[in-house]
Amino acid sequence: MSILVTGGAGYIGSHTCVQLLNAGYDVIVVDNLINSCEESLTRVKELTGKDLKFYMTSLLDSRNIEAIFANESIDAVIHFAGLKAVGESVYQPLEYYHNNITGTLVLLDAMRKSSCRNIVFSSSATVYGEPEFVPITEKCPLKPPTNPYGRTKAMLEQILTDLHTSDPAWNIMLLRYFNPIGAHESGRIGEDPRGIPNNLLPYITQVAVGRLISLGVFGNDYDTPDGTCIRDYIHVVDLANGHLKALDRMMTDSPAVRVYNLGTGTGYSVLDVISAFEKANGLKINYVIKDRRPGDIPVCYADPSKARDELGWTAERNIEDMCRDAWNWQKNNPEGYGDR
Ligand code: NAD
Ligand code: UD1
Repeated sequence: MSILVTGGAGYIGSHTCVQLLNAGYDVIVVDNLINSCEESLTRVKELTGKDLKFYMTSLLDSRNIEAIFANESIDAVIHFAGLKAVGESVYQPLEYYHNNITGTLVLLDAMRKSSCRNIVFSSSATVYGEPEFVPITEKCPLKPPTNPYGRTKAMLEQILTDLHTSDPAWNIMLLRYFNPIGAHESGRIGEDPRGIPNNLLPYITQVAVGRLISLGVFGNDYDTPDGTCIRDYIHVVDLANGHLKALDRMMTDSPAVRVYNLGTGTGYSVLDVISAFEKANGLKINYVIKDRRPGDIPVCYADPSKARDELGWTAERNIEDMCRDAWNWQKNNPEGYGDR
């Protein structure tokens, strides 16, 4: 079976390509490398001993995308490609809406023309906003996201749902990720953010490797046991495996729109993550308490039982595995892929 992976050179995409190739799928990657580099795909091939096809193009280039669907026989698409920096999206809303929304519309139109109607979409727990209850089930009411990035996820979920209503042959998986961290256990592929990281784990690993002096913990006066925010961190390889389970289900069941939370079901505070990182790696992380970060929600973690019951998927790796693998990647690749 042949899978088109958009954004396959990126963080989650590259880990998913490894799992797909290992499971015997043929993989075709489309990526314009706006937030990644081809070296990740070289390493995917090296890790699996298998080849994949790579088209370096933007999804916005409809002629290229249509040509890919005309030339290849594609059974399903896993759609990761998109811009994802929350803060940047506030300052560049047009770029975010154009890239994420128009890019997806071009992709869907090319799929429709080639009669490929199977798509797995990268959504986010951000669609729950400040959740009405935790653990968050898929029935938790959706709240308007607080930034353009989040709005692109909510809008794309709606667009995909409308598409299925217009043509029930569309088979759609909306996967709502919680907080992916960690790296492949080999340390050959991992997260390689541009500039100073916004997310917690890359920040911690860059402090550990000496690229940054100390971590700012955003607020210790939340209504949580230690006052810092709680999140559901999930190992990126577990997340990647969730895509394979989603694909299995999608390709063997009747077309529908299906929604799944991909999280572990356990919440950890920022201080918990710092301690887990220190314990897993025998290191000390310098940190200082700072003001709250605007837009942060106090507590967010999944009820992942729907994915367990319907997809047969559960996350297997614990927080120490995540911290160990994140550090293994960073210490072996202090400058990431070294391309920026
Ligand atoms: P990433 O930036 O590492 O990967 C995205 C890839 O898409 C990059 O390789 C980038 O070059 C490519 N891309 C972007 N726009 C493109 C375009 N127009 N045409 C072709 N390629 C394009 O990000 P990631 O962390 O791997 O995230 C993958 C997906 O999962 C994204 O849609 C993201 O919004 C979503 N997501 C990520 C997280 C997270 O914490 N990492 C959480 C929830 C959802
Ligand atoms: C952020 C995004 C969310 C996105 C998710 C995954 C915001 C407001 N939300 O979520 O839309 O889906 O990333 O990409 O940006 N923290 C620190 N110090 C730091 C960095 C983070 O204390 O230097 C804390 C944060 O306050 C938070 C936790 O660590 O409590 C996790 O932060 P982060 O990794 O940015 O993820 P989210 O905020 O959950």
